[in-house]
Amino acid sequence: MVMTLSGRGSERNDKQIIEQRKEEHIAITVSKNTVASYNFWDDVVLEHNALPEVDYEEIDLTTKFLNKKLGLPLMITGITGGFRKAKDINAYLARIAEEYQIPMGVGSQRAMLVKKSLAYTYSVIREYDIPIRIANIGAPQLRELSLDDLKYLVDEIEAHAIAIHLNYLQEIVQPEGDREARGVLQRISEVVKEIGVPVIVKETGAGISGNVAKKIIKVGVSAIDASGVSGTSFSAVEYYRALRTQDDRRANMGRLLWDWGIPAPLAVINCRRAINASRKRVYLIGSGGIRHGLDIARALVLGADIAGIARRALEMYFRGENLDPIVEELKAVMFLTGSRTVKHLKGVRYYIIGKLAEFVKR
Ligand SMILES: Cc1cc2nc3c(=O)[nH]c(=O)nc-3n(C[C@H](O)[C@H](O)[C@H](O)COP(=O)(O)O)c2cc1C
Repeated sequence: MVMTLSGRGSERNDKQIIEQRKEEHIAITVSKNTVASYNFWDDVVLEHNALPEVDYEEIDLTTKFLNKKLGLPLMITGITGGFRKAKDINAYLARIAEEYQIPMGVGSQRAMLVKKSLAYTYSVIREYDIPIRIANIGAPQLRELSLDDLKYLVDEIEAHAIAIHLNYLQEIVQPEGDREARGVLQRISEVVKEIGVPVIVKETGAGISGNVAKKIIKVGVSAIDASGVSGTSFSAVEYYRALRTQDDRRANMGRLLWDWGIPAPLAVINCRRAINASRKRVYLIGSGGIRHGLDIARALVLGADIAGIARRALEMYFRGENLDPIVEELKAVMFLTGSRTVKHLKGVRYYIIGKLAEFVKR
């Protein structure tokens, strides 16, 4: 089926808007300050172990996620697709995902539904031996898409899972945003039953609360990406887009809601509680503002199974870097906490200080 943007303009305009928007998101993310004013991960302090009783060389970073073995507890979350350069970005990140054996998501595949000739910008990741390839679509689009549309997205990239992203902060700030959110949970529950691959529900930087987690666990999702406030702010991204088009009202809204959402570590804590209370095997991804190996460790002690990076992954592409520094940092932290395995790391003692402590108290 061919989608149009909630009654605005022609189909051709829609295609152009979607393509341009994805490209602008990348351009703005790499050229402007689009992160939350405060990184809450700094408020998670791990207890130092002066007697680690582990040799650095024996530290084992492998872990399991969605029943697959990973090289380290990290994934590249959905970022891009839908314009020419996105193919290069996805190929670069796919090579990294293959090398380190970590999952990778593509960005929203809406563009390839609207314009099939753009499919190659996503499907390039099929050429890499990635343990878990993840398809991606926005919750707002779920209402208009058929199961066949979604299966097409999964098949085109030979995905092992599909991520449904919740991005209502972005939708409310951007001028062409979709503000109809009724019935989405019901659609998620239908997709879970019918799509044939595990479903991940993710936020895009504003965080999933305990209450929302409960609802999505109940409909049977396999994983939650809590993606809270600390890193990329889509309100900030849309603020810069609004400035470019001299749309003062949207720009003001973007500035007002810049830091809107649930602190990333708090989202992990609350989603973990909801998962444990459900007694279901639901995997948890801690993301939003993960910068280095220490942040990955912080996410894991709070209850995440793996951490996720988007902004940091884009930086890797633009700087021509790989994950070696992050691996080294994570291993250093595991050494200093006496954690030979990821399982040991998850049990390390920690303190919550600063602003985050104010939230956790409540
Ligand atoms: C340029 C850019 C584009 C993104 N596009 C998508 C997307 O299409 N689908 C999605 O689920 N998340 C998207 N995200 C959100 C990320 O997956 C992630 O949830 C969010 O950026 C927080 O992580 P970070 O602080 O590491 O960037 C995007 C992020 C960035 C930076």
